[in-house]
Amino acid sequence: MKEEKLEQTLVLIKPDALKNSITGFIFSQLSELHTGARFAAAKVVNVSSLLAEEHYAEHTGKPFFNPLLDYIMGKVHYPEENKWKRRVIAIVYLGNGVLNRIRTLAGPTNPHKARDEKPGCIRSLGTVVQLKDKDGNNIGDRLDNLIHTSATTEEAEREIKLWFVPHDIPPEMRLYKTEICPTHYYYKQGKLYNTYEKDSMLLLAPGDIVWKTDIEILESYDGKECKKGRLNTVAAKYLINRVNI
Ligand code: RTP
Ligand code: MG
Repeated sequence: MKEEKLEQTLVLIKPDALKNSITGFIFSQLSELHTGARFAAAKVVNVSSLLAEEHYAEHTGKPFFNPLLDYIMGKVHYPEENKWKRRVIAIVYLGNGVLNRIRTLAGPTNPHKARDEKPGCIRSLGTVVQLKDKDGNNIGDRLDNLIHTSATTEEAEREIKLWFVPHDIPPEMRLYKTEICPTHYYYKQGKLYNTYEKDSMLLLAPGDIVWKTDIEILESYDGKECKKGRLNTVAAKYLINRVNI
């Protein structure tokens, strides 16, 4: 039998799934019985532009990038009068070989391809929306595919650390190293401070449990940027459901 290793994956139930109430179907597909994986964390998130841009950083500059941000932020499926309904459900699963298992349940990225190649997979229930420029020319597609699942162990680590703080996950289910934060960190408009500045937000206080890599990134801040990563990658998570920036 093929040996599988203990892994975590990030699943996002996207706004189109919430709007169309496909959540029950998705949860039954993702049940511990079906997947053999365990729920390790879950939260309802109003996705800020900061978080959306970090999550989809690899697609920056592509024609579908801004429509993709609007989609994950819920702006497409919940316009202004319903903006309070803009959410995704973020879940961490833990299990042997869980990455591929859950990706298989989701199916191909493009819902049309999903319907052709894997009828019945979650994304076969999604939609493809043509994108046009201001002159009406086709510039690609927005793939409303209901669910996100991490593709690799590296991607899963990056994404889980982007959406979840360590104490969202029960201690014995955590796979990544943590540390105790030694100092205060405040954030304001892309800058980091150790003492309170007017209108800044407290990210961390001494004694908080943090991902080790977050502390390494914050400690590498030189007044302008972090040498060991992106400040916004760390900040976005601590600002989840606090402010929409
Ligand atoms: P996901 O990250 O959402 O699980 O999807 P994936 O791995 O199958 O695909 P990925 O390349 O990571 O793309 C992330 C999301 O961006 C949108 N996308 N649109 N129009 C296009 O060519 C295109 N390519 C990607 C999709 O919404 C996709 O889920
Ligand atoms: Mg992906």
